[in-house]
This record gives sequence, C-alpha cells and structure tokens, in this order.
Amino acid sequence: MEQTRRPRRLRRDGVRGLVSETSLAASDLIAPVFVDATTDERVPIESMPGHERVPLSEAVARVEEVLATGVEAVMVFGIPESKDARGSRAWASDGVVQEAVRQISAETDAYVITDVCLCEYTEHGHCGVLEEGARSGEGLTVKNDETLELLARTAVSHAEAGADMVAPSAMTDGQVGAIREALDDAGYANLPVMAYAVKYESAFYGPFRDAADGAPSFGDRRHYQMDPANRREAMTEAGLDVEEGADVLMVKPALPYLDVVADVRREFDVPVAAYNVSGEYAMLHAADEKGWLNVEEAAYESLLSIKRAGADLILTYFAEDLADRL
Ligand code: PBG
Repeated sequence: MEQTRRPRRLRRDGVRGLVSETSLAASDLIAPVFVDATTDERVPIESMPGHERVPLSEAVARVEEVLATGVEAVMVFGIPESKDARGSRAWASDGVVQEAVRQISAETDAYVITDVCLCEYTEHGHCGVLEEGARSGEGLTVKNDETLELLARTAVSHAEAGADMVAPSAMTDGQVGAIREALDDAGYANLPVMAYAVKYESAFYGPFRDAADGAPSFGDRRHYQMDPANRREAMTEAGLDVEEGADVLMVKPALPYLDVVADVRREFDVPVAAYNVSGEYAMLHAADEKGWLNVEEAAYESLLSIKRAGADLILTYFAEDLADRL
C-alpha cells in the first residue's frame, strides 16, 4: 500500500523524544504543604495518601523533603490554633503561616508562595466576613468589600514574613487590586501576585477541606466561586485580574477545566498556572488502591495534559512523586 503520510514513522524509539511537543520538568511544579498549629506531630491526611499536616517545628524539614526531589517551589497553607468570625489569625504576625514562612525563608532556598484566604481561619469556614444575602431566604453570604481589606492585610503579613509570592484564593471581586495596592504601599512593589483568577465551585476540593480544616460549616461557596457551567465568564475573571495587576493567572481545578486553561493561555500573555487539586489527586490514588490503574502513570499523563492545554506551572500534590522521573 502506498501512503505518503504515516504518522507512525515518528512514534518509534529514538525519534519519539525528538518530536515530542510537550515536556514536564520539576521546575514547572509547586508542592502544597500544610502547617498545622494545633498539633505537635505529623498527622497523615487520610484522603490524600502520602501527605501530612506538619507542626510548625517540622515546617522546614517538610520543605527540605520537597527540595530534595528537585521541586523548587512550595505553596504554604496554614491551620491556625484558633478561629473567629473574621479570621483574625490569618493576618497575625505570629500566625501559623507567618511563623512557618519566616523559618522556611530563613533556612531554605525554596521559593515560597502563600495562599491568601480566610476560610481556614473563620469559624464558619467561609472565605470572608458574612452578611445577610440581599434576597429573602438567601441566607448569609460573604461581604465583598469588607473582606478585601482583610485579604490585603493578610497578604502584607505574608510578605513581611518573607513570602516570595502571594496567591489570593477567596474569589472576592477586586482582591488582586486591593492586595497589589497594599503590597505597594508597604514597600513590596516587587512581590508578584498569582491570582486564583478562575476558581470554580468544585466538588474536587473535598479532600483539601479535610486537610486544611476549611469546609464551610453551612451552605457552600457558590455565591463567590465560579459556576462550573461557565466558560466565557472565565475570560472576564482573568481579564479583571490582569487589569488589577495579576502577574500569574491560575485556573482551578485543572483536569475538568482544560478548555478554560487553553482559553486563558490563548487570550492572555501572562504565565498561566493550573491547580491539580486534592480531588484529582485522591481519585487516582483510590483507583490505584483498588488495582484499577497505576497512579504514577496516570498522574504523569494528567500533568502532561495540563501542560499541553497551556499551563506553564502546575500546583500539584504529585509534585514530589513525579519530580524523580522528570
Ligand atoms: C482556600 C483554598 C481551597 C483550595 C485551595 N485554597 C479550598 C476551597 O476553596 O474550598 C483547594 C485546593 C485543593 O482542593 O487541593 N480557599
């Protein structure tokens, strides 16, 4: 049979690597770490095999484990010793994230990013201060503009502790602008902001909410996080964050939203991050435990797909496990 085009010619060993369109490197990955002020010892996170909440005294050791795999950046999440209505431990200079970041930046070379949100710090578990919704029967919702000030304060406190980058994740309108302005005023004009720009109200955050103890005590986050049905709206969210000064745009979750990752990549010229979230991690581990697939292979393929869709960097709980083979 005569055939001019035979794609299989380039699928043989030796040439496959030469024509490969996408590559994954340890330097693309950011490893989330959980520092817990309520414990003296490491506590395994059941729904995220291989991950733990570590006490403050282990924060540096935890980050050194990450660095030993070749991954150079971490995202720090904190579980505070106490919670209140406004989440005041989020911006305390002796708060769990601030203490951890101070130690990590003094003692390691890790690039330290912090998640800026209030849900782990409020007793109701929502991402800001609450008010009665405008429509009767709507119940409580997050008060937007009052929350902005608290997020800005939190971001500045992270910068003061030594964070290299801050990542606001509350989906409060105007959060990037408010944080940018506060950082500039405090003398941190060179500190970049990675916006959780396009963050959906997703069932894939379940294991994280156990890990960080940040589940809402009532209701859900649909009044502030995005509706999974919406794709065009993602461009609005990303565009606003660019106008407000975002240096990196994040899409979250990753795998169920690769169309959105590709859209953001096409429309904007800032780096694009994708967050391969806790549920994406947990489901592969669960299937592997049942013997239904190989977690490492499936994880590698997942991250490669996220990059192929257009992400430059990936936040992932698989960072350490995969860094080895990259
Ligand atoms: C805080 C925050 C969440 C995640 C990252 N930052 C939880 C949420 O919004 O409910 C989820 C991360 C994951 O599932 O891995 N707002």
